[in-house]
Amino acid sequence: MQRLRRLRRSATLRDLVAETRADASALIYPVFVADGTDIKQPVPSMPGVYRYSVDRLNEVVDAMLDAGIGGTMLFGIPAHKDKTGSGAYAEDGVVPRAIRAIRSRLRDRKRELVIIADVCLCEYTSHGHCGVLSDGEVENDLSLPLHARAALAYARAGADMVAPSSMMDGVVACIRKALDEAGFTGTPIMACSAKFASAFYGPFRDAADSAPQSGDRKGYQMDVRNGREALRELAADEAEGADILMVKPGLAFLDIVRRARERTGLPLAVYNVSGEYAMVKAAAQAGWLDERRTVDEIMTAFFRAGADMVITYHALDWAAWRKAQ
Ligand code: PBG
Repeated sequence: MQRLRRLRRSATLRDLVAETRADASALIYPVFVADGTDIKQPVPSMPGVYRYSVDRLNEVVDAMLDAGIGGTMLFGIPAHKDKTGSGAYAEDGVVPRAIRAIRSRLRDRKRELVIIADVCLCEYTSHGHCGVLSDGEVENDLSLPLHARAALAYARAGADMVAPSSMMDGVVACIRKALDEAGFTGTPIMACSAKFASAFYGPFRDAADSAPQSGDRKGYQMDVRNGREALRELAADEAEGADILMVKPGLAFLDIVRRARERTGLPLAVYNVSGEYAMVKAAAQAGWLDERRTVDEIMTAFFRAGADMVITYHALDWAAWRKAQ
């Protein structure tokens, strides 16, 4: 008789036949960097997550190195916002300064960590949209050169990779061209290809103070109802020269991760977004869920679905739990 339980009889047997092996080097920890000094400010809707000023980044860099995670993704919170999001592409903006500070810490500690800079305008625009507005509409083609300028500023500051997340059409090609022309032919692009207009971004918008002042993002982010269209987004970014593709959010979109995995040979990332993190934290704090087992199950699910890497606010905790095992 077929007995599938035979290979489940001991922990060692289960390890031997495990189809999914997740490790910390495949995790990316998002970091919010705020303008100002001596800031380590908790994000209320994301327990355990902080906004750091550039001068306080060493603490989180050291934590990431100690945890052995693979990379960090930086989001900037500028002191001033304006209509065109100029803080996103200022050469001395908060993200370029953060990149230089992290580089210097890595040099001092003789360690490596992949520094990925998010490229978007929403944290920097007074209206909170991901591109520039004209008659209340986000103007795709006027926004593209601003993304290219931002990506260049981050590459010049020493970013290992840039990750456009605004869902503007053609943004990957535009950034690729700008990077290549400036000599950054070796800087990869992680494309937030299939990014859905999701309620799960709520806590991030608190953290980054980036909620749109009017309307929503449904005119540029994807409709949650569409799976086939997500595959078109992924294919478009691949054709434009993306080096890594991303699906975002993760938990409610594992079908997209699986379908993407079956269609692309590129590395695939999944973003375990702020609301997914907040749900687990809230339930754990109420004593309703075992946080460790829940996070472990979620991470495993991403890898099982076909992700090669996970961007997650749980990265530091999860890596520490793994080490302690
Ligand atoms: C936009 C951006 C957002 C997130 C990542 N990049 C917010 C948005 O689109 O409103 C959300 C990530 C998260 O919720 O953790 N720059």
